[in-house]
Amino acid sequence: MEMVLLRSGVWFAALVLAVVASALAVDWAFAVHMVICAIAAGIALVVTLRGGNFDAAAAKVLRSPDPGKYDDEVIRWAVIATVFWGMAGFLAGLYIALEMAFPALNFGLEYINFGRLRPLHTSAVIFAFGGNALIATSFYVVQRTCRARLAFPGLARFVFWGYQLFIVLAATGYLMGVTQGKEYAEPEWYVDLWLTVVWVSYLAVFVFTILRRSEPHIYVANWFYLSFILTVAMLHLVNNAAIPVSWFGSHSISLAGGVQGALIEWWYGHNAVGFFLTAGFLGMMYYFVPKQAERPVYSYRLSIIHFWALIFLYIWAGPHHLHYTALPDWAQTLGMVFSVMLWMPSWGGMINGLMTLNGAWDKLRTDPILRMFVMSLAFYGMSTFEGPMMSIKSVNSLSHYSDWTIGHVHSGALGWNGMVTFGALYYLVPRLWGRTRMYSLRMINWHFWLATLGIVFYAASMWVAGLTEGLMWREYGADGYLVNSFAETVAAVHPMYVLRAFGGLLYLTGASLMAWNIARTIMGHAPREETPLGQIAYDPARDVPLQPAAAI
Ligand code: HEM
Ligand code: HEM
Repeated sequence: MEMVLLRSGVWFAALVLAVVASALAVDWAFAVHMVICAIAAGIALVVTLRGGNFDAAAAKVLRSPDPGKYDDEVIRWAVIATVFWGMAGFLAGLYIALEMAFPALNFGLEYINFGRLRPLHTSAVIFAFGGNALIATSFYVVQRTCRARLAFPGLARFVFWGYQLFIVLAATGYLMGVTQGKEYAEPEWYVDLWLTVVWVSYLAVFVFTILRRSEPHIYVANWFYLSFILTVAMLHLVNNAAIPVSWFGSHSISLAGGVQGALIEWWYGHNAVGFFLTAGFLGMMYYFVPKQAERPVYSYRLSIIHFWALIFLYIWAGPHHLHYTALPDWAQTLGMVFSVMLWMPSWGGMINGLMTLNGAWDKLRTDPILRMFVMSLAFYGMSTFEGPMMSIKSVNSLSHYSDWTIGHVHSGALGWNGMVTFGALYYLVPRLWGRTRMYSLRMINWHFWLATLGIVFYAASMWVAGLTEGLMWREYGADGYLVNSFAETVAAVHPMYVLRAFGGLLYLTGASLMAWNIARTIMGHAPREETPLGQIAYDPARDVPLQPAAAI
């Protein structure tokens, strides 16, 4: 009872604060954001008051869900959120791809121009789609591998809803032009503070669940998840250190400026790739690939070695984003050397994942989910070979600023992060909603091929565009002047931009099939009747020996 009162008091105070802040706001975007916060606090207040079981509290009995089952409610919400934000993020990606090919689509409106929709896309896919997938799978995996229920169930629910509020504030902020101008860390100071509270709660739920484990051993997937949660907390705090211009306004000044600011930004940026898009997703890989293949991890020792090597090396590689800048030369070289070394632990993960399929490769013929995992590992391997290569200064002098970087990003993002998430979602949905299997395996197969083709179009067109740009930019004539104007290079890659958008459309179409398939499964439709995959129709007429040539 006291807890309900305390929580209601906190939400009420937050509501009042938000209303006051919106009234005193010095810019309209801050006012809008405070209204959103007030609405969120109001909803939380009502839910807290209605959810409090007064009778049970009066009888001194705590309301607790069935302790004989894992706490999966919040995971179900996060799965739905992953699908929802994924669709939104892919759609935004497709739209900005079309804007690059056909700039008229900006319509002269600042709210939907490329500059505002681009961070909307990157945040939607990385933080909303990827982040919800990480929350869902980490809560699922930590419970199963520790044989323990989530510690602090209330806090776990707060993590989920608090994270959604962060996404809404970030996304609406971009559309209104609120940004602190740091790539992948665009939200302003008050949204950063909110995320800190949510993230610390996430850490608490995760760590205390591990502490409550009944298994003596901490499975390697949890090491990866933990390193992701801890490091992201550290990166977030350092990179976002800023002083607000006003307590009631949406602008702030970063504590670090100039080349120090750039170094901190890319220390953050590269480790966001390393810990958000890599370590967390490796955690996913280490649980779902062995489960789906029904084989143990190929080498547990390798998983431990590449874990420590990976987290040690990643943290130094950031300067490869600042080649040929004002950053001291030695720091650039340091970043390059560590990036090249990073190739090995990255491939350690890929090899471990692929070799887990030893003895189960035949399943690829009939199991489209496993196919997704294998494709994701293949793209992980490709992008972590390409990345170290691009970090070599002479290669980077060609690739930097060009669409090659965009191709690299998306072979990692669509291939590795996207595919492993889709596989995990297909694994989770029937289990979380108590169904025998997904509504349609054939649709998963279609999704697999549409996504794979989409990535091929995306990455191949960007590689061609990147090389074209890089080579055209550096072409000098006999007179010592540049041969091509910038506008000519843009015109040269136009067909590639159209092909990239087509790839995006294929990828989005595949994801729409997934959304439909998942919705049908959740709603309890009977599984679709389908010819099993890999089954070839028997034709008795062809099942005969060939006549020897002489006999004809
Ligand atoms: C339908 C699928 C997608 C399409 C069509 C798409 C399209 C785009 C486009 C057009 C850009 C801007 C490129 C530029 O600035 O020149 C971009 C940037 C980016 N996208 Fe995507 N995207 C898709 C999915 C994803 C996914 C799933 C992720 C991550 C999980 C992702 C992560 C990124 C990142 C990190 C950038 C910034 C790249 C950079 O500045 O180097 N995208 N995307
Ligand atoms: C061993 C692993 C990797 C290394 C050494 C590496 C290295 C690099 C390099 C050198 C760049 C270009 C920097 C520039 O010229 O501005 C880059 C860009 C990028 N990489 Fe990787 N990469 C690796 C793996 C990955 C993976 C697996 C992903 C995604 C899942 C990824 C996502 C990105 C993103 C988002 C950017 C664009 C950053 C920006 O906005 O400029 N990388 N990477």
